[in-house]
Amino acid sequence: MIYIVDFGSQVTHLISRRFKELGVKAKIIDFENAIEVINKEKPAGIVLSGGPSSVYGKNAPKVSKEIYGFNIPILGICYGLQLTAKLLGGKVVPGKKEYGPAKIKIIKELELTKNLPESYTVWMSHGDEVISLPKGFEILGSTHDVKMAFVADLKRKIYGVQFHPEVDHTEYGNDILKNFAEICKTKTKEHVVDIRAIEDEIKKIAKNKYVIGAVSGGVDSTVAAVLTAKAIGKKFIPIFVDNGLMRDGTREYVEKIFKHIGIKVNIVDAEKETLIKLKGITDPEEKRKIIGNLYIHLFEKEMKKLIKFGKDVRFLMQGTIYSDVIESKGSKNSANIKSHHNVGGLPKNMKLKLIEPMRGFYKDEVREIGRKLGLPDEFVQKQPFPGPGYAVRIRGEVTKERLIKQRLADKIVLEELEAANVLRDIFQSFPVLTGAQSTAVKGDGRNFGEVIALRIIESRDIMTSTWARLPYDLLQKISSRIVNEVPDVSRVVYDITTKPPATMEWE
Ligand code: XMP
Repeated sequence: MIYIVDFGSQVTHLISRRFKELGVKAKIIDFENAIEVINKEKPAGIVLSGGPSSVYGKNAPKVSKEIYGFNIPILGICYGLQLTAKLLGGKVVPGKKEYGPAKIKIIKELELTKNLPESYTVWMSHGDEVISLPKGFEILGSTHDVKMAFVADLKRKIYGVQFHPEVDHTEYGNDILKNFAEICKTKTKEHVVDIRAIEDEIKKIAKNKYVIGAVSGGVDSTVAAVLTAKAIGKKFIPIFVDNGLMRDGTREYVEKIFKHIGIKVNIVDAEKETLIKLKGITDPEEKRKIIGNLYIHLFEKEMKKLIKFGKDVRFLMQGTIYSDVIESKGSKNSANIKSHHNVGGLPKNMKLKLIEPMRGFYKDEVREIGRKLGLPDEFVQKQPFPGPGYAVRIRGEVTKERLIKQRLADKIVLEELEAANVLRDIFQSFPVLTGAQSTAVKGDGRNFGEVIALRIIESRDIMTSTWARLPYDLLQKISSRIVNEVPDVSRVVYDITTKPPATMEWE
């Protein structure tokens, strides 16, 4: 087994996913007791993860130098490399900050770099940089800005990469991890998602109680609902809360899905209540918490109604996936990026206990499970849409007027992507009402209207993304239609920021 020492990176969990896909067993362990655990259990290899700290920070997480004396191959990733360099006598400094793509050039082909091209794209996310290597180390590869981007002490089998081989957008990242697993001489076993085990787990938690399900029409909650229905049958009651912040036609779409699955879905109308609660609210975290709280309030109301009818409801099923969890400070040492409404946005004193069958999976895995369950492609390939909906795509206060603007602009973007036959290739597409005003000349008169930003992105697992390289003519068409058709819009800009650093949504 390979042990991954967690220093709080947003993508630590992805490292273990990659090894599992290669058929290698992997386990994430805490840095605090890593030495005792490793000493006792003697893994075949160790990965030191990335993390948000600087090795020179006051409370920087550490492991003892002893780890390098166990004679077990070690791969340090980002913070893991910097910590290795510092502990073994190298030097780390605040470097040129780098987030997103960089080109690496391999200068030496060895076990870890074997079968890789000479140059390829890697993804970075760091502030510090190693500028002097400990004794015994050499450089295997560099980028334009980071000389010591890929390093190794071949004798002791200690390796380090400044970039993240585990993220989807790093080319040949899987090959690097495969090479490392081979260096560790790990055994491999074919990895298949065990759908029956997920169902058994749901049964075990729910026992003979009723479960209500928060469904939105999105892939995650649909797949979670199918699994829950398979596990407990009629004791599962899906509920769609229509908060008025969803895309046009969502309610009908949800009804269609559950008709296909063969269960009746209950609809709760909550548009008015949602807008009243959001009145005057501009802070993104506050918006999410209000929406998360209101959700639970409404589900608890439904629970009470059902209990009156003799249905002993104890659980709420949600379609939470791993990326929601990690961004809401889902691991002990990670940072809170945003409180996803269904994780960090939930109230503390909930009566309903949660069942989240997809909590350990990534978007592309959920889609794969959906396909295995026989769900039509139309449901499985649907664009992700955030639970708080348009509320997190409208910077500042959410009002009825701004919702109309958002809805209209969103419709235009979808229509034009569809007409150009590219909608299928897009992971997510949406306009953002930025809240910024700018000057325009419309019909010879001055118009000081709102700036709309377009976010059209490609991704597989949500952890990293890049903007879609759409034809200029298509962008022009979308821009012209928005400024012409959506009232009080002065300008359209295209967001060309990768994730990291920018998250998908603006809030
Ligand atoms: P970010 O913006 O964090 O988004 O890169 C990652 C994915 O999650 C969606 N998203 C949310 N989904 N509740 C949700 O259910 C939320 O509070 C939330 N915030 C973001 C986003 O659309 C993207 O697919």
